[in-house]
Amino acid sequence: MVVRTKVNGEWLEAEVWPGTSLLGLLRDGLNLYGSKNACEQGECGSCSVWLDGQLVCSCLVLAAQAHERTVRTVEGLRDDGRLHPVQEAFVEAGAVQCGFCTPGFVVAVADLLQRDPDPSPATVREALSGNLCRCTGYQKILDAVNLAAARMRDRP
Ligand code: FES
Ligand code: FES
Repeated sequence: MVVRTKVNGEWLEAEVWPGTSLLGLLRDGLNLYGSKNACEQGECGSCSVWLDGQLVCSCLVLAAQAHERTVRTVEGLRDDGRLHPVQEAFVEAGAVQCGFCTPGFVVAVADLLQRDPDPSPATVREALSGNLCRCTGYQKILDAVNLAAARMRDRP
């Protein structure tokens, strides 16, 4: 089947097997490798994207469900070649710990801060509860959230 989806502002289409996930469509059909396949069970958040503005685990969504809909991926966070403030904060705070979990964390934090510019520590932890780091720890990620939130609040 052919799936046609608006990805990061551009209509794209690919031929996929009907059981293909949205994550499979992005990575294997459209060569967008930012969203990672780390568990394929909805447990880790590494594949997080927006589908019509809603944060989803793309490994749990069928590609067919994204037909004629809008998807935004971690690649779509850049604006005019500039990193998103959350991406900048992750770099500066040393929160880019590995290539598997980082894209999902960045997407989840960007989602949180667009809903709540000044989240409480408990809200941050709740928002990131679906994103797992298997190895390094969360403190630098929390530092990055605080840095990004402060920067985004200060921007006109
Ligand atoms: S790969 Fe989708 S939640 Fe882990
Ligand atoms: S899984 Fe990415 S730093 Fe732990």
